Amino acid sequence: MTQKVTKAVLPIAGLGTRFLPATKSMPKEMMTLVDRPLIQYAMDEARAAGITDFIFVTAKGKGALVDYFDKSPDLERSLKEKGKTDLMEELARSDMPSGAISTIRQQEALGLGHAVWCARRLIGDEPFAVILPDDVIMSDKPCLQQMTEAHRETGGCVIAAMEVDPDQTDKYGILSVADTGGRAVKVNGMVEKPDPKDAPSNLAVIGRYILTPRVLDALDTQDPGKGGEIQLTDAIAKQIDGALGVWGLKFDGQRFDCGSKAGFLQATVAFGLARPELRDDLAGFLKTLKLG
Ligand code: G1P
Repeated sequence: MTQKVTKAVLPIAGLGTRFLPATKSMPKEMMTLVDRPLIQYAMDEARAAGITDFIFVTAKGKGALVDYFDKSPDLERSLKEKGKTDLMEELARSDMPSGAISTIRQQEALGLGHAVWCARRLIGDEPFAVILPDDVIMSDKPCLQQMTEAHRETGGCVIAAMEVDPDQTDKYGILSVADTGGRAVKVNGMVEKPDPKDAPSNLAVIGRYILTPRVLDALDTQDPGKGGEIQLTDAIAKQIDGALGVWGLKFDGQRFDCGSKAGFLQATVAFGLARPELRDDLAGFLKTLKLG
């Protein structure tokens, strides 16, 4: 039987330079879509998928992300006194039980594979999830839950996959698959950020992974790859010929690249429109815009 996935690694040590100056004194994962920081979306999705243990791979200046999940008794008391139960419920979303979040420092920015490897001692010998909070996914069934279900069926590594514009392959890990039919497709090759002219397909890796502990073994001796960084893609590629294999899951849902300004703005509009209390006002405003 496949072991249940209960641990998730969140690599959040990046500097967020694309959003300077906003990220000068604030982690980019604290940037807010409507009224929740990006990190909250990632944690909500993970909890819905049954994750109970979270490993934040952080760096200097990221303390606000850990503080965010602290209880705030003073605030709770004051909201209770004022009878603001709706806000109390909202606040409770950011409560995490003691011990649920661990932090590990990534001492050097050596790449995504290195960030995940930094968490190896806390992961141990079990399958685990990796969530990149920059990728925000709007879906009926949380993306990570779709992936844990696919992992239960296959037992192998499962990677969230999505078709992208063929001229954008140099922004993603790219999968090659023999059969493009079903939703979970067996991967027979993967390469980090290939030039469009060399890309084996336009099926891209999105920032959600369920990985077997063998990926950590591969990372132990991993050489730097694309861009001189230790690439997670390369360590996963080494599992393709293993007994359990690697699967790309074409998840149901819409992905927003909140690591880019355009993606962040699109997500703000989409998540705003998805909130019943904001929908009419926002839709009305958008209709008044003169575009073009
Ligand atoms: C990382 C991965 C890449 C993946 C992407 C998804 O790249 O290395 O394979 O396609 O996340 O967002 P990054 O965007 O961190 O450069």
